[in-house]
Amino acid sequence: MKQRHSFAWMDLLWVFFLVGLAALPPSGQAPEPEPEFHKYLILFAIGLLQIFEHRFLESLPKRGRLYIVLLKICLGSLLVDHTGGIDSSYYLIYFLPVVTAAMYFDVWATLAWTILTCVTYWSFVIWKLTEYELTGEGAAELAIRNLFFFLAALIVNRFVTENRRQAERYRQLAETLAETNRQLEQAQEEARRSERLAALGQLSGGLAHELRNPLAVIKGSAETLMRKVADSDSITTELAGYISSEVNRMNALVTRFLDFARPHHLEQHEEQLPPLIERSLKAARDRWPDAKVEVERNFAPDLPKIMLDADLMERVFTNLALNAYEAMGREGGTLRVEAMPVTESRRGVKIIFQDTGPGIPAELREQIFNPFFTTKETGVGLGLSIVSKIIDDHRGSIHVTSEPGKGACFQIFLPEHEEANPAA
Ligand SMILES: Nc1ncnc2c1ncn2[C@@H]1O[C@H](COP(=O)(O)OP(=O)(O)OP(=O)(O)O)[C@@H](O)[C@H]1O
Ligand SMILES: [Mg+2]
Repeated sequence: MKQRHSFAWMDLLWVFFLVGLAALPPSGQAPEPEPEFHKYLILFAIGLLQIFEHRFLESLPKRGRLYIVLLKICLGSLLVDHTGGIDSSYYLIYFLPVVTAAMYFDVWATLAWTILTCVTYWSFVIWKLTEYELTGEGAAELAIRNLFFFLAALIVNRFVTENRRQAERYRQLAETLAETNRQLEQAQEEARRSERLAALGQLSGGLAHELRNPLAVIKGSAETLMRKVADSDSITTELAGYISSEVNRMNALVTRFLDFARPHHLEQHEEQLPPLIERSLKAARDRWPDAKVEVERNFAPDLPKIMLDADLMERVFTNLALNAYEAMGREGGTLRVEAMPVTESRRGVKIIFQDTGPGIPAELREQIFNPFFTTKETGVGLGLSIVSKIIDDHRGSIHVTSEPGKGACFQIFLPEHEEANPAA
């Protein structure tokens, strides 16, 4: 809205100046006895070109600028020609193409356009050389006028170039700010997740721990019952067998849950990541031997060693690989695993697990890290919460990006030398 408003003002100013030019007689001459329609027509054409210049440039983005400057030189020359040729005081109209070129082109092109404008102006002298003689004084006057064209062109060009540079600097600054903002939001999201998982871990760790003893008692009782009535009562034996196997399942669940809830005591050593990742990929392949999944690896040769707990980190990679295999299901796909050094603000390694499965909808991208969130029939929903917890304990970070239908991409960052949280 505001832009349109200022455009209207500019247009009005143009009309005002051109009407002024049309109304005034050339300097040094008496007011014209009769109106000069040619002059009005040319000024009108210049006005139209000026007002519609932006629209013209929009419709002809490539060559529009070139045509505009050429048209301005032509219209300027027509005006000068119709108002007395080399003697016309309208020669100042040549500032128009010169300044326009300075606005649109670089310094060399601006100089070339200014030379062309000067040559056009000088051509009025050349035509007249058969009738008049060019005095030294006249040539000096013409040279001064031409030099002013160059002066104006260079000043405007410098100003516009500086302005463009400034605008580019602001654009880059805005991009950096937007990127920093995005990283900040991501860090906040990860911090919120860590807090949430820590609180949930504390709460449910206690509960899981309390469940263990009664489960042990139930299991022990069921086994005793099975032994006592082993031959006499087959139904009781069968029911006691169910109790025992279900208790086993519950025990396994509680153990997994405690994995998530219990603080991990890290046994850290400097480790190379590729062998760890390979072991995890093998574990996933052994779990799904018939899956039509192709694994692509891209491990940078200059990966630094990382202080980490190898068992826990292997669990992280195994969970991610299993999730990818499960996501790609029977149709199969490609699992791309990358590892590269990071040398920016925090030094370390970035590991990427990218699959070609169905991806993760945006609204679930944070929830998948919550314990017991699963979309799988046989899933427990603890894999990623354990992954997230282990990465937190190593002072790293994990986040997921996913375009629906294009697979999921889990990105992990592990810091190089920082000591992991000793309290963890
Ligand atoms: N690579 C992936 N592609 C698509 N969805 C995924 C992917 N990885 C995880 N998910 C989604 O995140 C959910 C949670 O994953 P998580 O590993 O925590 O649990 P799970 O795999 O369902 O069960 P489990 O406890 O056996 O690992 C999954 O149920 C699935 O919906
Ligand atoms: Mg899982």
